[in-house]
Amino acid sequence: TVLVVDFGAQYAQLIARRIREAGVYSELVGSDVPVEELLARKPAAIVLSGGPSSVYAEGAPQVDPSVFEAGVPAFGICYGFQAMAASLGGTVARTGDREYGGTPLTVTTQARLFGDLPNEQSVWMSHGDAVSAAPPGFTVTATSTGAPVAAFEDVDRRLAGVQFHPEVRNTPHGQTVLEHFLFDIAGLEPSWTMANVVDEQVAAIREQIGDRRAICGLSGGVDSAVAAALVQRAIGDRLTCVYVDHGLMRQGETEQIERDFVAVTGADLRVVDASDQFLSALAGVSDPEQKRKIIGREFIRVFEQAALDVIADAKEHGETVDFLVQGTLYPDVVESGGGTGTANIKSHHNVGGLPEDLTFTLVEPLRTLFKDEVREVGRRLGLPDTLVQRQPFPGPGLGIRIVGEVTRERLDVLRQADAIAREELSAAHLDTEIWQCPVVLLADVRSVGVQGDGRTYGHPIVLRPVSSEDAMTADWTRLPYDVLAKISTRITNEVAEVNRVVLDVTSKPPGTIEWE
Ligand code: XMP
Repeated sequence: TVLVVDFGAQYAQLIARRIREAGVYSELVGSDVPVEELLARKPAAIVLSGGPSSVYAEGAPQVDPSVFEAGVPAFGICYGFQAMAASLGGTVARTGDREYGGTPLTVTTQARLFGDLPNEQSVWMSHGDAVSAAPPGFTVTATSTGAPVAAFEDVDRRLAGVQFHPEVRNTPHGQTVLEHFLFDIAGLEPSWTMANVVDEQVAAIREQIGDRRAICGLSGGVDSAVAAALVQRAIGDRLTCVYVDHGLMRQGETEQIERDFVAVTGADLRVVDASDQFLSALAGVSDPEQKRKIIGREFIRVFEQAALDVIADAKEHGETVDFLVQGTLYPDVVESGGGTGTANIKSHHNVGGLPEDLTFTLVEPLRTLFKDEVREVGRRLGLPDTLVQRQPFPGPGLGIRIVGEVTRERLDVLRQADAIAREELSAAHLDTEIWQCPVVLLADVRSVGVQGDGRTYGHPIVLRPVSSEDAMTADWTRLPYDVLAKISTRITNEVAEVNRVVLDVTSKPPGTIEWE
């Protein structure tokens, strides 16, 4: 395991992902973890991440020099690079100059880190202070205008560092630099593959569940589908999947789960049609938070009843259901361990949530994985792209994409518009470019239009295409005008109640991705 010490950088998770992309397993650890504890985990290498602080700032996280004396390969990035330099006897100057964004870098020594890379390249910088003298024993390998020492390495001690951010796509050769550290300096071998993950997880699940039974809530999303498919592979029909149809799904989604998921996995799937129950609970409600709470509450009620039914059926055969499968991902684990109180912007709920008064042991086979790895695992298990490439879709579904009260008629209108938008975006091969594209019905807004010879008084549909790395921040996607035109023409022609299509051009922040 390569441990990435997180100095509070937004990039720390990205660093771990890139290391895994290189084929080496990597995990994050907080910068408050004592060195002894760090070393006790016997890391194959340690990477010190970037961070917002200056090494001179009061309370700035320091690096205990003993970490470099243990013979473990180490790589410093940005703040981690400066902390490394400071701790090993180099000099960090408070230049006061800030270097930010794409910056030309000159490679001065083509040693290990820059191997056969071009001498002039662009890198992504974001720093105030700069290393002005490398610690004894290090070779300076690159320089930039704002960073006299922009990279250094000590091959004998297997230590190296860079001032820039190799993990971001804006550093075109960044991944290669990282790989040079991992393979040519640290001497590691790439062995982290999703094929191994499948084998290991299947074995671990068998070990955990033994010959008992498990239940899994399917949401229609990637995570629960892949988690369920893994457990299915491990314990076969001792897994029961429950899919709660809240009536707020998009066109064809429920059928797709019933058909595709079952076809591939052979899973025992129970579909509970609870749309009437959800719709009557939502009647007359237009406040977004209230809608979210109602949907969350009803979901737990329905799921709980379904779970009790599964338990009762098992009991008839003298069996118990002791396990609940959840598609928790590594970023959720990292974030819930972070413990920093963030403001409650929206009360997110995840379909598959644990009913409070039912006690199960959790099975979380995706706990160590990032999203792209989960997709790859899903592919290896034979799940179709319609499932593994599915874009994020909120648990409360279309219920929070109708601004105003949710009714069956309004859901039908939104479903038609959404299906058209999705169809055209796919036809234009934009699926992978867009993080997601909520389609929103402004149910309480009407505007005047003209169609044929007649006046119309219909509702607007909002398109909200966004680009994002992690949904924490997002930018609106600059979709080609001809694609937008096609979507608009088709929606206004084919969906009778809609006479206007508008485009949301707000980034996040200040807008959130969903409208409610
Ligand atoms: P916002 O609207 O907060 O959305 O910018 C960020 C991401 O989260 C998704 N989202 C949800 N996902 N349950 C979920 O599982 C929810 O209640 C929920 N609300 C929003 C949203 O689609 C986007 O990807």
